[in-house]
Amino acid sequence: MTGKIRLFESFQQATYPLGGHAKRNVQVLLDALEKIEGSVEGDTYGNGKLIEDFQSKIAEYLGKETAIFFPSGTMAQQIALRVWSDRKGIKRVAYHPLAHLEIHEEDGLKELHQIETVLLCAKNRIVRLEDVLNIQEEVACILLELPQREIGGQLPAYEELVAISAHCREKGIKLHLDGARLMEILPYYQKSAAEVCQLFDSVYMSFYKGVGGIAGAILAGDGDFTKEARVWKHRYGGELISLYPYIISADHYFEQRRSKMGQYYEQAQELAALYNRCHRVKTVPEVPVSNMFHVHVELPIEQVEAALLSVQQDTGIGLTPYVKQYDQTICYYEVGIGDRYAQVPKAEIEKAFQLLDQRLRENDLS
Ligand SMILES: Cc1ncc(COP(=O)(O)O)c(C=O)c1O
Repeated sequence: MTGKIRLFESFQQATYPLGGHAKRNVQVLLDALEKIEGSVEGDTYGNGKLIEDFQSKIAEYLGKETAIFFPSGTMAQQIALRVWSDRKGIKRVAYHPLAHLEIHEEDGLKELHQIETVLLCAKNRIVRLEDVLNIQEEVACILLELPQREIGGQLPAYEELVAISAHCREKGIKLHLDGARLMEILPYYQKSAAEVCQLFDSVYMSFYKGVGGIAGAILAGDGDFTKEARVWKHRYGGELISLYPYIISADHYFEQRRSKMGQYYEQAQELAALYNRCHRVKTVPEVPVSNMFHVHVELPIEQVEAALLSVQQDTGIGLTPYVKQYDQTICYYEVGIGDRYAQVPKAEIEKAFQLLDQRLRENDLS
């Protein structure tokens, strides 16, 4: 068995995995359905009380006029950018080089809509106001992802967001929020979702990341925007006859976890501090600004995998199922805090981190 497979398996078998809420098995749906009566009407092709009530509730939460439930964020965001591009008659949008649309969607935006993209800055940092001021071409829309997942979930200062938003409004550029992890950033900003979203013309939020549902997304904006977006949802095959298993789970876990985001954020800070005490380890960001961060280790990947494997096997604490290469000298993995962290005895976590530090030192052959 290779080191990678052994690491993955040791994480699967760990008594105390530190990240996430729980295993993503069918129990997630069973729990969400537990208190639902069988007589509740399902939705039909985007209509019906169940879907309409949920859309209205989330529209209000986001401070937007209307909202549409989508099976995926991938679908919702490509459509949002298409609507804004059509509106302006310019098939060009701008975003971070590691935006989900740029690296994880098989070029859907370009292949399906012939929309060009402007990459706003270097890969390893967040988009700044100056990047927006320096855009040379005319763009219909700018997409900002908060937090920027692929660089550990970093965030700009709130004042900078306000300045970017004001500039876009002045120039007639639509501003779209990739808020896949929107709820997760609210404790850091100390703002409501509606306060953050009023800086943006359209917003997407996910219901299976920090919220922990099965799948699904909301796209919100003004009435004209969502009306057009709904036509595209149909064209994409996203207007499923019924989406209620996703909607019920989205609503259930939204209610269950909306008040826990502050707890996840504080626990992410606590865990990052433990990592930062270990040999050749640095978290990005150093102090997390949401429930997530990346762990960077400046050692050869095989030695890091071996150290993590031995900690997971000896302590039962699950740190990660994988490690990836970041650059020539650094490897990394992502950590996202959910319900599980609070269930792990503190002393066991401390012990695991002492051992991790020790193993990394032993495995450092430099
Ligand atoms: C930042 C970001 N945007 C968009 C998406 C797309 O969401 P979905 O998986 O629902 O298509 C993801 C999914 O991981 C994401 O992390």
